Amino acid sequence: MANEDIFKKIIAHAKEYGFVFQSSELFDGLAAVYDYGQYGVELKKNIMDYWWKSMVQYHENIVGLDAAIFMHPNVWKSSGHVDAFNDPLIDNKDSKKRYRADELIEDHIEKIQNKIQKEVNKARKKFGEDFDEAKFRGTQPRVIKYTEQIVDIKKRMVDALEKEDLKALKQLIEDLEISDPVSGSKNWTDVRQFNLMFATQMGTTGEETGKLYLRPETAQGIFVNYLNVQKTGRMKIPFGIAQIGKAFRNEIVARQFIFRMREFEQMEMQFFVRPGTEKEWFEYWKEQRMQWHLNMGIAGENYRFHEHDKLAHYANAAFDIEFEFPMGFKELEGIHSRTDYDLSAHQKFTGKKIQYYDNEVNTGYVPYVVETSIGLDRTFLALLTAAYQEEKLEGGSERVMMKIPPFLAPVKAAILPLVKKDGLPEKAREIMDSLKYDYMCFYEEKDTIGKRYRRMDAIGTPYCITVDHQTLEDNTVTIRERDSMQQDRIPIEKIAGIIAERIRVKR
Ligand code: GAP
Repeated sequence: MANEDIFKKIIAHAKEYGFVFQSSELFDGLAAVYDYGQYGVELKKNIMDYWWKSMVQYHENIVGLDAAIFMHPNVWKSSGHVDAFNDPLIDNKDSKKRYRADELIEDHIEKIQNKIQKEVNKARKKFGEDFDEAKFRGTQPRVIKYTEQIVDIKKRMVDALEKEDLKALKQLIEDLEISDPVSGSKNWTDVRQFNLMFATQMGTTGEETGKLYLRPETAQGIFVNYLNVQKTGRMKIPFGIAQIGKAFRNEIVARQFIFRMREFEQMEMQFFVRPGTEKEWFEYWKEQRMQWHLNMGIAGENYRFHEHDKLAHYANAAFDIEFEFPMGFKELEGIHSRTDYDLSAHQKFTGKKIQYYDNEVNTGYVPYVVETSIGLDRTFLALLTAAYQEEKLEGGSERVMMKIPPFLAPVKAAILPLVKKDGLPEKAREIMDSLKYDYMCFYEEKDTIGKRYRRMDAIGTPYCITVDHQTLEDNTVTIRERDSMQQDRIPIEKIAGIIAERIRVKR
C-alpha cells in the first residue's frame, strides 16, 4: 500500500475510533487545530506520564514546573523570538499554495538522497556479502556527483538562511528548478520572512502595551523561573527543569494532520550545566532520549539522528531524533545545546543577576543549557503510525489492530459478559469494580463477542476478559491477548497480576 494511502487510513481510523477529531468540525473545521477524543486523550495522558516519570521521577536532579502560557511580552524580545522566530515563505503564483522555502529545498535534497540509496541498494544486490558500502559511496562516480550536489545545495541554503538573504534563497529554488509539488508550476513569488508567533491583547485598551504572545515554546517559562526553582529547590548543578504544556505557532504549511499544528503540546527539559561540560551532557541526553523512544518497543529502524544544517538563533549544536512517519523521516524531537544564550539575554534585558555559584570550582557563572524538546502530538502520531496493522485472519475475515505498547494503551482491559443474561453481567461488573481503580477498564455487553473483540483491537486494548457460564461455576474467565488473539482460562484472582505485569513500563 502506498504511504499516502496508509496515512489516509490512519487519519480515518483516528477519527472513527475517537482518537483525534478536527477542531470545530461542526463549523467546517479550523485548519491545523485538532481535538483529542475519548481514547486519544487517554493515549496522550499515558505518553505524558511515561515522559514525566522518565524525566522527573527517575532523575533525582530533575524537577517539574507548570508555567503560564502568557508571559511578559519582553520575554520574547529578550529571547530573540520577536526578531528571529521566522520562517522563509514562498508562494506559487499558479497554485496559490504557500510553502516554506527551506523545506522545498530540503525535499529536493531528500530526492537526491533517494537516488543515492537506489544506487547503493542496486550494488548491494549485485555484489551480495562482499559489498563494501563505504567504498562504493566514495568511488562510484554517480554517487560522488550526487553527494557533491547535496553538499553544494546545503551550503548555499545555510548561507542564505544565516545571512537572511531571501533573494539567494529564491535563486537557489530557481536554479534547482524546484516545482510546486501540487501543480508542477515553477512560477514563484519572492521569499518573505514570516514571524510564527500568535499575538493577542491583554486588557481592554487595545494599545500596543497590552500586546501579548502565545508562547511558541514552553522553554522560556523554564528560563524565567530558573532562579526561583534553583533557590527554592536548593538545586545543585547539573540539574534539570521539566515541563509539559501547550505551545502555539502560526505555521505556514500545516497540512499533515497532527504532525504540524498551530496549537500543540511540547514536553521540554532544560538541563543546566557548568560551562565547558555541555558537549558531554549533550551526548548523554542524545543517548538517553533515543533510549526512551526505543523502550516503547517500536523497532529501532524507525528512528534516526539528524544533525541540523542551520541552527536556531539560540543553539550552538542541535540534533533531531527523526521518525519514519508515512510521509518519510521527519523530526520528532530536538536535542539542543543552547549555551547560556537565554539566561544571559534575560540577565542583560532585565538587569537582574542570573548566576550560579559553583562551590566545587569556587566560581560563579551563567549556566549553560542542554535542552530536550519533544512534541507530544508527534509522539502520538508516531505511535499511531507504528501501531496501525491490517490483518487477514483464518476463515477470510480481517481486522484492524492498533498494536499500541500495552503500557500506553488507552484501555488496558475490557470486561465482557458473553451474554446479557443469566447473571453474567453482574459477575462481570464485580470484576470491573475490582480492576477499575488500578487502571483504565472498559465494560461492554452489547453485540456479539466477536464484534466486541474487534472494537477493542481497533483501539489497542491489550486484554479482553470474557465472563461465561463456566465463570459462575468455578470463578474462572477467559483472557484474550490482543496481538496473538490467544485465549487462556484463568482464575479471577489472577487477572490483576497478569495485566499489571504486562503493562509495566520498560526501563
Ligand atoms: N524549545 C525548542 C523548540 O521548541 P523545536 O524544534 O522548534 O524546538 C521542538 O520544537 C519539538 O516540538 C519538535 O521536535 C516537534 O516535535 C514539536 N513541534 C514543533 N512545532 C510543531 C508543530 N507545529 N506541531 C506539532 N509539533 C511541533
